[in-house]
Amino acid sequence: MATQDGKSKYPSTMSTGAPAVSDRNSLTIGQDGPIVLHDVHFLEQMAHFNREKVIERLPHAKGAGAFGTFETTEDVSKYTKAALFQKGEQTELLIRFSTVAGEQGSPDTWRDVRGFSLKFYTSEGNYDLVGNNTPVFFVRDPMKFPHFIRSQRRLPASGLRDNHMQWDFWTHNPESAHQVTYLMGQRGLPRTWRNMNGYGSHTYMWVNEAGDRFWVKYHFHTQQGMKFFSNEEASAMSGSDSDFHRRDLFAAIEKGDFPKWKLSVQVMPYEEGRTYRINPFDLTKTWPHADYPLIPVGTMTLNRNPENFHAQIEQAAFSPGNTVPGIGLSPDKMLLGRAFAYNDAQRNRIGANFHQLPVNQPKVPVNTYQFDGPMPYLHSGAAATYAPNSEGRSWSDETGPVHDGWEADGAMVRSAYTLRPDDDDFSQPGTLVREVMDDAQRDALVDTVAGSLSGGVREPVLSRAFDYWKSVDPEVGRRIEEKVRSGSAPQPAEGMGEA
Ligand code: HEM
Repeated sequence: MATQDGKSKYPSTMSTGAPAVSDRNSLTIGQDGPIVLHDVHFLEQMAHFNREKVIERLPHAKGAGAFGTFETTEDVSKYTKAALFQKGEQTELLIRFSTVAGEQGSPDTWRDVRGFSLKFYTSEGNYDLVGNNTPVFFVRDPMKFPHFIRSQRRLPASGLRDNHMQWDFWTHNPESAHQVTYLMGQRGLPRTWRNMNGYGSHTYMWVNEAGDRFWVKYHFHTQQGMKFFSNEEASAMSGSDSDFHRRDLFAAIEKGDFPKWKLSVQVMPYEEGRTYRINPFDLTKTWPHADYPLIPVGTMTLNRNPENFHAQIEQAAFSPGNTVPGIGLSPDKMLLGRAFAYNDAQRNRIGANFHQLPVNQPKVPVNTYQFDGPMPYLHSGAAATYAPNSEGRSWSDETGPVHDGWEADGAMVRSAYTLRPDDDDFSQPGTLVREVMDDAQRDALVDTVAGSLSGGVREPVLSRAFDYWKSVDPEVGRRIEEKVRSGSAPQPAEGMGEA
């Protein structure tokens, strides 16, 4: 064929499959003349190019991922009947790591929480666990989530990120102190994605074969060791390789150095959830391991890179609402809010039939009563489109209590959770600062916070921030204030600062 280079065994075609006439020259009237409108191949190239991106995620836009396997190595059948968590079971999975606030092109090494999203392609349908590299979160009511995310993004006028706005939000919401302490500490700057832990963060429900219910928290511990960047290293890396984390994961898997994480769970018997001294559904709190020790479950290994970033990572759709039998949600208001948000975001971002894309498709047969819409390519032929029907197409009708439910009653209110004895906002971050961090980590925390507060944070937010940190730990708060007031704080981290 005249238009081919004569070497490729895949001749270039148009999207119709007919031979592409030329990928170099448009059709013109005379060699130097104008382009004609009926050069369909040219027009199609231009038109499709205008549509080759999907909307980026809001939040967690910048990220990458890989495929792998989860193997359940322990017998946890007394807690859950979920097929993927039965001893010996191996389940294919997809993981996506991300930063929260930055856009698609933002540096991987800006200080931020990191996303840790998992899709298990189980024998009972897809199970998604959409967590972070920290065990807690900034707020505990989903009504606050869009406000939180906007405060971390960009100013309406200048389009710049702004420390003042971030601290304004955090100090107005003291329940953020635990997560902000994690963020301003080492976890805010993981060296690589391979070197960080992952957490389900919320409390979920597990249900065993007998119908017994348990509350669980997931912990994925990196087998590569936890490693971190200093502010200076991260800042330098942001400038020299903004895709450092993406590159690191891809390169490691490419050379056969497959990263691993061990999964353990904390398990709380169902009834203890009513009386435990900390509200077990408050996402800003952890459960002390002395009360609920880690129980090992299995190992996750990442062993396959995507073949196409757009198809398999950009169009991947995770949702905490995607559960399987033996696993349920919990009364955590954040989790219940998230159960709506993700599928809706994906209908907007990818399209109504995003479930049909190969990366999102379950490995088990799908027999849904959702039909048509833009670009469906899986269909059920002439089978009945309504239920119930007498046409032999199955339909479901379970009634009565659900296996993964809980009791709820009371008048409708708009209110914070009922407080339990140890439900204050500052004890757990205080313990993190005093008992988990060593002297060097505490010094780095003081420098990081003082640097951030020196980057354009104004009154009254500044004084509120000093009080916030003195509530976390009086000495740390005093040191932060002294550094800021004396003007001796280090420069703010890359990507943040005065607007
Ligand atoms: C009410 C609270 C929250 C809401 C409304 C919310 C909403 C969203 C939305 C709309 C997306 C983009 C989804 C997409 O376009 O595919 C997203 C992404 C994400 N969120 Fe949340 N989120 C909330 C809380 C959380 C929490 C508490 C965590 C972690 C514990 C979390 C972790 C993530 C992660 C890891 C992603 C990236 C998913 C991916 O890799 O595709 N989010 N969130």
